[in-house]
Parts: sequence; structure tokens; C-alpha cells
Amino acid sequence: QVERNWDGVRLYLYQGVWCPIFVFKALQSFQKNFKANDTDIVLASLPKSGTTWLKALLYSIVNRDRFPIDQTPLLTNNPHKLISSFECHYFFNQDNPDDLGNIAQPRLFSTHLPHQVLASSLIKSKCKIVYVSRNPLDQFISEREFLLKNRFLPDFEALSVEQSFDMFCRGVHAFGPFWDHILGYWRASMENPDRVLFLKYEDMKRDPVSNVDKIADFLGLPFSDDEKKQGLIQEISKYCSFEHLKNLEINKTGVHHKYVNNSTFFRKGEIGDWKNHLSSDMAERMKQVMDAKLSASGISFDASS
Ligand code: A3P
Repeated sequence: QVERNWDGVRLYLYQGVWCPIFVFKALQSFQKNFKANDTDIVLASLPKSGTTWLKALLYSIVNRDRFPIDQTPLLTNNPHKLISSFECHYFFNQDNPDDLGNIAQPRLFSTHLPHQVLASSLIKSKCKIVYVSRNPLDQFISEREFLLKNRFLPDFEALSVEQSFDMFCRGVHAFGPFWDHILGYWRASMENPDRVLFLKYEDMKRDPVSNVDKIADFLGLPFSDDEKKQGLIQEISKYCSFEHLKNLEINKTGVHHKYVNNSTFFRKGEIGDWKNHLSSDMAERMKQVMDAKLSASGISFDASS
């Protein structure tokens, strides 16, 4: 089954996931070729749920002994350059999928793929998965704004907000349906809390410090009493905050690749921006989708600003 996304890019329904064409190619190679190490750390998320932020945080937590925060490679690299995704790796290295480059240990990866299609080697390993979720209304708006700024098919007349929202509520969007994505990682975190940590963007915004502490504990890299006394958790949280990352020169002027500028990963960084874009009828429709798909699991999101 094939549909065009809001920006014209073709989406293929494969193993229950709506994959943009390049992901479709990457996914098969990832499933076949990826060999996990028990020490690997994987950040999983739907697009526009806080991936850039979590990449900066994970990189800072894991590498805090290698780089003092004021000399971190984040100063000169967009977080996406420091942690690459399975999708990009297996798409761009189709001829040499085993060459994962010189990645420092523990290896850090990211993915937008849902849990159900992860490579079996990863599922069977003891590696840690950090999942960041976001309320679907803000995620939808963030993704729409991102796709409108970064046009892969500039001649395609983008769908209206109403049309795109309708597709989103039917689960037709990149890496969707969103409810299967969220539920897959939620269930995995319930079944195996030592291996999968389920975070929410909204909780992270409201209390970044406790969440950074929690992530480090989960990774088996807890902050020592000395590090806590020195205020390292606060320092990392502040360094990776929206305001700080957005204003780094590399993120203001750098280019991610030919279609995407680094600055487009930093838009508003708020909870509740959907209210500036969506009607109350649309919010009500989303509530019904959430009730039908997610409420039985006990997952809820506080999307108020
Ligand atoms: P908005 O478009 O609502 O502003 P992703 O990194 O998964 O692509 O998600 C991008 C969203 O996260 C954007 O949301 C972006 O502004 C926000 N974001 C980026 N860096 C952030 C940070 N350090 N703290 C909070 N939000 C951040």
C-alpha cells in the first residue's frame, strides 16, 4: 500500500509501519545486518518528539568523563552528527552495511522505527533503549512545520493542515501509526524496565534535572555524589536546553544535509503550541483517537501549555 505524505513524499506500508521510501530500503538492511552489542545504547522516538534534545543529553551523560561540558563536541556538531540513525546508516551504506565507522564505546544510535520492526539482534541483546514520546498534537504540528520548511519535493503543493491532520489521525504519517509506535515501546518498558526507559517530552520540559538523573541511573552510569555536589546534572541540563542549543553558532548557521538546515531542528520547544494551529474540533477528534487507542494502556499526555 502506498500513500503520499503531506509534503508529497511517498509512504509505503511495510510490516505495519508507514515508511518513507528511503526508510523502506534501510529497514530491510538493518533487520538483516545489524549486530547489536550488549553495551549499545539506542534512542528511539517518533520524529519531532525531542530526538535532538535527547541526543545532546545522552551524548553528554555518556561522554562526561571524556569531555568537560565546556569542551563538548556539541559546540561544533549538531547532535544528529554525533549520534546517527539506523535509517540513515543503512540507507547511505547499502553497499557496505557492516561498516559502522569508528564509533566510540558504548555505541550510541538512534531510530524512528517502531519496536515491532527492530532488528532481532537488538531485541535479543541486553542493550538499553531510551524512548522519548510527545503528546501527538504538538508532535503533529512540529512535524508539519518541519516538513514545510524542509521540502524534499518543492514543486508538490503541500496538503492543508486539515488534510494532513486527517491523515495523521488515521495513522498515515512517517513511522506511524503513532499509537502503535508509542504502545510498542510502552509495553516493552513495562515488560523489561531495565532495558527500555519510556520518557515524555512534557515531563522532561517540566523537570529536566530529575530526568537527566533518571536517564544516567537507567544507563548504569549514575552521577556520583561528587558530581552531584558540583552541580553537573544542572550543568548538562542547562547546556542541552532549547535556548542554549538553538543559539550555538553550529545550530544557527550549519547545514545538516542539502535539504535540511540545523536551525530547523529548533523551532519553539514549547508544550501546547498546537493551540495556535488546530481547532477545538480537531483537538476533540484527537482525544477520541487517543481514548480508543491508548487509554486502555494507561498512557496519557498533558498537552496544555
Ligand atoms: P517544536 O517544533 O514544537 O518547537 P526532534 O528533535 O525529534 O526533531 O523534535 C524537534 C522538536 O523538539 C521541535 O519542537 C524542537 O523545537 C524541539 N527541541 C529541539 N531541541 C530541544 C531542546 N533542547 N529542548 C526542548 N525542545 C527541543
